[in-house]
Amino acid sequence: MKIFALTGAGASAESGLGTFRDKDGLWSRFDPMKLATPEAFAHNPDEVHAFYNMRRQNLLSAEPNAAHRALARLEGSLTERGGSLFLCTQNIDDLHERAGSQRVVHMHGELLKARCTACGGTMSWHEDLSVEVPCPSCRCSGGLRPHVVWFGEMPLEMDAIYDALLGADLFVAIGTSGSVYPAAGFVSEARGHGIRTCEINLEPSDNARQFDEGRYGPASEVVPAWVEQLLSSRSSSDQGGFTAPGPSHPK
Ligand code: APR
Repeated sequence: MKIFALTGAGASAESGLGTFRDKDGLWSRFDPMKLATPEAFAHNPDEVHAFYNMRRQNLLSAEPNAAHRALARLEGSLTERGGSLFLCTQNIDDLHERAGSQRVVHMHGELLKARCTACGGTMSWHEDLSVEVPCPSCRCSGGLRPHVVWFGEMPLEMDAIYDALLGADLFVAIGTSGSVYPAAGFVSEARGHGIRTCEINLEPSDNARQFDEGRYGPASEVVPAWVEQLLSSRSSSDQGGFTAPGPSHPK
């Protein structure tokens, strides 16, 4: 079985990293147009660096939760059984990797990496960034920025993402509001190709109606239960056929 899993900020919410659009979410406290666009960085790099330095420090003191660990388990079990998990995240944190996931595609970039706008190099980065910091490879100052995708910029690895999405047997979206494209459009792409779809979220998302199945509650509870059911139904029907577990909230 090939599963394509898309995760969003809700998957890391219980690790203390907050979300963007919930009450008290980041975008209710900070203006994304002043902090998460290339224009904002050109206009006021110090303010943008301060914002991402704060988020990087938060991340360094955060820990993966049971949802991250369950997806790492799913990856291992599916691989053992000749299947695969394509884990595509909108999150810029490294909690999937710290939970043991081997292959994680960060379509919106990674907070623990910096990119130089002068030489194009990307490098691991755990310290605060500022315009004074020279690029380790080209020594140019003022060019380093967080290796994240800002509004108005192209997400990363989109060819590999669409190849995996359209080749999947099951598409699952976890902890995302379904309000930011292109990720929000994955469910309709999957449906258009007859791929089964499932949403796992605290509450129904903006495009909940597009999913065949919805499971609602905290990711740290619902994802491990969903993985357990998936793997036990898989092992119980060991005739090679796979029966996706029945919807908990039939549509
Ligand atoms: N468990 C499961 N889902 C949760 C939890 C939780 N503990 N807490 C919140 N959620 C859900 C919310 O109900 C909401 O639907 O997670 C979703 C978070 O939505 P957003 O804050 O919009 O985050 P996301 O969908 O990841 O945002 C997409 O927007 O701001 C940009 O680049 C940023 O990658 C981000 C993109």
